[in-house]
Amino acid sequence: MAEGNFEYLPAALAVGVPEMDTDHERLFGCLEALKSACLGSEGLPLPQAESLYQTLQAHCALEESLAIAAGVDFADHREKHRKMLLSIRRMLDEVEAGRADVFSLLRYIDYWFERHIVDADQGLASSLLQGADFSLQRAGQWGFPDPLQMPT
Ligand SMILES: [Fe+2]
Ligand SMILES: [Fe+2]
Repeated sequence: MAEGNFEYLPAALAVGVPEMDTDHERLFGCLEALKSACLGSEGLPLPQAESLYQTLQAHCALEESLAIAAGVDFADHREKHRKMLLSIRRMLDEVEAGRADVFSLLRYIDYWFERHIVDADQGLASSLLQGADFSLQRAGQWGFPDPLQMPT
């Protein structure tokens, strides 16, 4: 898939890190599938809801691994993920138990995805991309000489 050419991820929410954008696209796709399934039935289709939750857990782990590999401080971001996963888990359990409205859950997840990408993921992506630029310059790509390889 070409960069910026996503089916579900709004272009304004693309962060420029392919692993993150691909995962965000997958999450928005799962959410749309869940919305469609809910519209066609009375309740929450549990396998699809659990699949979305597991995809989200895996996505949080992916972002953390990218941050750690790049040496980016992830403490605040990790806490946002923890709170979000906890909130969604509680809402899912409430909907599954018949104590909450499925469309409130869907609106909450939708809202959270967009807000979190703007509030946290764009910053992480920017740090990762700056690190990548530095690595490429160090490697002498883009026409920059590698200072470590220059004769003294
Ligand atoms: Fe994300
Ligand atoms: Fe995140």
